[in-house]
Amino acid sequence: MVTISRLENYFVLTNQKISYILEILPDGTPAHVYFGKCLPHIDLQQLQYICRREGKSAGTIKVYKGSSFSLADQMLEYPVYGTTSFQSPALMISVNQSPLYLNLSLQDYEIHAACHNEQPEAMPHCRFDEHAKTLVLHLMDETWKIGVDLLYTLTDDSAMVIRQTKVTNHGEQSIQIDKAASGALNVGGSDWDLVHFEGSWARERQQVRQNLVQGQVDVQSLYGSSSHQSNPYTVLTRTGAREDQEDAYGVNLVYSSSFLNEAMVNEFDATRLVSGIHPLTFAWTLRPGQTFTTPEMMMGYSDQGMDGLSRVFSRFIRDFILNPRFAYRHRPIVLNSWEAVYFELNEDNLYSLAKKAARAGIECFVVDDGWFGKRDTDTTSLGDWFVDESKFPHGLDAFASKVRKLGMEFGLWFEPEMINEESELYRQHPDWVLRPPKGRISYGRSQLVLDFANPQVVEAVYQMMKPIIEKTGLSYLKWDMNRDITEAWSSYLDRHGISQMELFHRYILGVYSLYEKIQRDFPEVLIEGCAGGGGRFDPGILYYSSQIWVSDNTDGFDRLKIQYATSMGYPLSCLSNHIAEIPSHQTGRLIGTEFRKDVAFFGILGYEINLERKQDLDEEQIRLQIETYRQMEPAILHGDLYHLRSPFHSNQPAWAIADKEDLYVGVYRILSDLQSVPTASLRLPFVQKEENHLPKEWICNDQRLTSALLAQMGLRLPSSNNGTNQKSAQMVGDFQSCLIHLKAVR
Ligand code: DGJ
Repeated sequence: MVTISRLENYFVLTNQKISYILEILPDGTPAHVYFGKCLPHIDLQQLQYICRREGKSAGTIKVYKGSSFSLADQMLEYPVYGTTSFQSPALMISVNQSPLYLNLSLQDYEIHAACHNEQPEAMPHCRFDEHAKTLVLHLMDETWKIGVDLLYTLTDDSAMVIRQTKVTNHGEQSIQIDKAASGALNVGGSDWDLVHFEGSWARERQQVRQNLVQGQVDVQSLYGSSSHQSNPYTVLTRTGAREDQEDAYGVNLVYSSSFLNEAMVNEFDATRLVSGIHPLTFAWTLRPGQTFTTPEMMMGYSDQGMDGLSRVFSRFIRDFILNPRFAYRHRPIVLNSWEAVYFELNEDNLYSLAKKAARAGIECFVVDDGWFGKRDTDTTSLGDWFVDESKFPHGLDAFASKVRKLGMEFGLWFEPEMINEESELYRQHPDWVLRPPKGRISYGRSQLVLDFANPQVVEAVYQMMKPIIEKTGLSYLKWDMNRDITEAWSSYLDRHGISQMELFHRYILGVYSLYEKIQRDFPEVLIEGCAGGGGRFDPGILYYSSQIWVSDNTDGFDRLKIQYATSMGYPLSCLSNHIAEIPSHQTGRLIGTEFRKDVAFFGILGYEINLERKQDLDEEQIRLQIETYRQMEPAILHGDLYHLRSPFHSNQPAWAIADKEDLYVGVYRILSDLQSVPTASLRLPFVQKEENHLPKEWICNDQRLTSALLAQMGLRLPSSNNGTNQKSAQMVGDFQSCLIHLKAVR
């Protein structure tokens, strides 16, 4: 149960897992006191004892003349620009380029059911249930009549606090919001490592860890998407701690555009992470009476390091972000045409593939890029969402029916936000493109970006997509987005006298509104998110797309790293993984079927191969793989993931997924290593931990094993070649793997 109480100048928010405590300072500013394990019996005396201030912080500017009170040494819940705290603020407001020095103090507060949190239209948000409660602190600046509401929501059972901020102009003149972060996470002490996920196209979410010292580190995207290069999921973990030990805090944003997470350590040894929309490409005009609502910020806690944190975030995303229609539902196993045929598709070669796919037990046949306009290369036709009849002379709807007759669902690729100059849409509406009236324009994959800040453009794109969805009866839609936004200038905003600084935010609201339209009219269509691979992997997209194509890199080894790191902040049931051909189309590497399978199984399985070509796996093998995966799928959808050995640090990475009935352990050996111990075992400490509610006994290959044994001594691994046992060893050579199944004894 969530309880939120006020004890004089303290607010205490508690659920079964955590407590979050804040204090209202003498000037009415909310300051942070505590976030961590539940403190069930905290009372006023204890709070006063722990918060008692003695002496003054030297060298600081004071709030009042003659007093020792400064904001500089406080852990501020929502720091404002230009106060006695000099760290990067969460809020900056100006009028005619002149900053306002706000004095936000608590005026009032309310506690209500979280389901009453109003969202602006088409803004992804947590789908709170009736148990979740929100504390709203109403802060007010009396000089400028600016109200700032700080929202804190707790659910019954998650070690998570959801923050959101609303800025309202109660004054009589327009103001400009130059920065409005969603919130700030404060943690005591400066002994923290920052873990973030950086990368590039085909190399998304490479895990980076760096020690924080006094100063600031920014994790950010300026790409107009959450990006390949970074990710809004950012973690603070104790300096040098193991991945599964000690306190860890994580933040994420329910947002898909440019973001900024600022991690800072000040001279008082306090660490703060301010997170929100990137202020460099954002400013928002607020007319009298208007409110701006920030994206929601997730703040999670675990005492089991970032591995424990991954379960906090995964469960929360499954329960409160994903569309409940799909969250725990079986997802179709697809065969995607992209790596099979690229642009060389027509109804005949696709149908031959489809027949083989159906025989192999594939459940959904997806026609990727190339089916529309005159799209024979990536230089043309984006925006022309009508069927290329030279490739489908009998129509795409007829092709879709033939696929369904084979017993499969039908899926289709779109890239709704983009346009090629070589297209009918561009010839009709050149002004629908983001581009300044003069000067430079840049190209990515020969394409330009449509002005999704213009509702007419969004509606026009939808009106092209709708008949295709209807006629083909598709049940799976892959939504791609293959370039970042440059020269962000909208003629629509110009015509309407709206500042171009609002473009990036309005653009992503346009993207969300298209998602809303599709889901309103076609609620049963599963939309897979994609952005040239995993360039927009964030909770904002996950609100609409219950699964996202993790990366364009389908090489088994690279994928293991990308998936392992992605799973640090996201549930496996959101990771769309396809088994692809060898040599890998991206790396040229030759990695065997077993390894590729054992990687792809940790997520939503699919295939990206041309069964007409000679492969290292045939229809029968695929059928068997699918059968095995089917057994594992409940654990993927409902289970908890445990990170055991990181592919970023170990030659023998390992992870395990467990639900109440089954435990699957994936063990990999990247390079052949003659130091291998012939009788290696892998300890599974998590099986014995009370809070994981796992059984006390398991069966593995007819062998009964207690959780105590698995935790203390370990699970026996297949023997590895150590140089003298090559003939008898089970793991010989590079890129070896095994997937071990343990069944619960209840
Ligand atoms: C990028 C995607 O990530 C690929 O899977 C594929 O759909 C191509 N785009 C098609 O152009």
